[in-house]
Amino acid sequence: MIRKGFRKVLAPIRSFVDHHARLHRWRQKGDRLVANHPLKHLFWEATFQCNLTCRHCGSSCGSRIPEGLLTAAEVKAAFQQIADDFMARKIVLSITGGEPLLRKDLAECCAAITFHGFRAGIVTNGTLATEERARELVDAGIPHYAVSLDGPPDAHDWLRGGNNAYDRTTRGIHNLLGTRGVKHVEVLSCIHPRTIDRLEETEKIVFDLGVGTWRLFIIDPIGRADEGLYLDSPQFRKLLAFVAERRADPNYPIRIAFTEQGYLGFPYEFSVRPSGFMCDAGIRTASVLYDGAICGCPSMSRRLLQGNIKTDRFWEVWQHGFKEYRNRTREGRPGCASCGVFEYCRGGCMHLFDEELGGPVHCHYKQLGGKP
Ligand SMILES: C[S@@+](CC[C@H](N)C(=O)[O-])C[C@H]1O[C@@H](n2cnc3c(N)ncnc32)[C@H](O)[C@@H]1O
Ligand code: SF4
Ligand code: SF4
Repeated sequence: MIRKGFRKVLAPIRSFVDHHARLHRWRQKGDRLVANHPLKHLFWEATFQCNLTCRHCGSSCGSRIPEGLLTAAEVKAAFQQIADDFMARKIVLSITGGEPLLRKDLAECCAAITFHGFRAGIVTNGTLATEERARELVDAGIPHYAVSLDGPPDAHDWLRGGNNAYDRTTRGIHNLLGTRGVKHVEVLSCIHPRTIDRLEETEKIVFDLGVGTWRLFIIDPIGRADEGLYLDSPQFRKLLAFVAERRADPNYPIRIAFTEQGYLGFPYEFSVRPSGFMCDAGIRTASVLYDGAICGCPSMSRRLLQGNIKTDRFWEVWQHGFKEYRNRTREGRPGCASCGVFEYCRGGCMHLFDEELGGPVHCHYKQLGGKP
């Protein structure tokens, strides 16, 4: 009896200690990765043009074809160059935008890219994924799709600027799922104050669609996003508890995870996603933007561009550039100076760190009520 009571008291302490031991090992792994910086994940921002006008769009995309957009010939040359210097089949390529399906030559570019063995997938709002388009893209070697669907019809349309987006997106998902050769479709949902109390409703929609994975995230204060779209501490904790509970359920029918956004601290790291937090921009991840600019991830400030694929050899830039990305000593900068969890967080996501401010424009740990 006494022993049982003792165990009950010890359990949370043990869980806390285990959590930190795991975080520590995770950090050591991160440090080894910085030293070796093996390129594992590449983004290609296929265009900066978009057919929707989402309130939260971090890239502030516009309706016109952007000036300087890489031509199909330049895209092919860029990926030929990368494939000559790296093992393409070890690299996961996410094709994003803007809305990538607005490129009429997308399938032509994809066929040339996947010919080298890149493991490619497309991130899309789904509105242009007709049966014909889905067939064409699968034939071009793209079996993976991530489609943004942010909630029930009214909430999705509100965030996505109307345009009957919900109906068009869900039709696109059905078209993708119905295309032979599509291996995996996942739904991406941006959760905000209007949808935080409608998670179960959204979950039912995701189940009914029949996709394999549901990834949830919150809105970053970048681009067009304004404060009305951010979750407060209780709302953010509610979202993470929702995800953690489902991940702990061995009978949950699909894969579910919170994205790699921000350091979350105890008890969330490892329970809401398969790994701990590590912003690996410039360490394992790089991007080729719509105009050929090379940087860490598509949301990065232009200040952190490292070169351009039209004029630079990507391999040279990867090997000898990205210095600021690989040196995250944020100590001494006012924003993270005295932070008690700096060891695990290292200043958060690189695209949210503001050099002028000397700190992050947004700290997820603080958003959860943590005291950095
Ligand atoms: C930039 S979009 C590009 C692909 C496509 N147009 C789409 O919406 O899926 C890629 C993902 O970023 C998300 N996103 C856009 N702005 C964001 C922001 N401010 N914070 C967090 N995620 C954002 C979108 O919701 C989408 O899931
Ligand atoms: S989030 Fe995607 S669909 Fe919405 S405006 Fe931005 S690029 Fe377009
Ligand atoms: S203050 Fe900086 S290091 Fe600390 S949790 Fe926030 S972003 Fe991370």
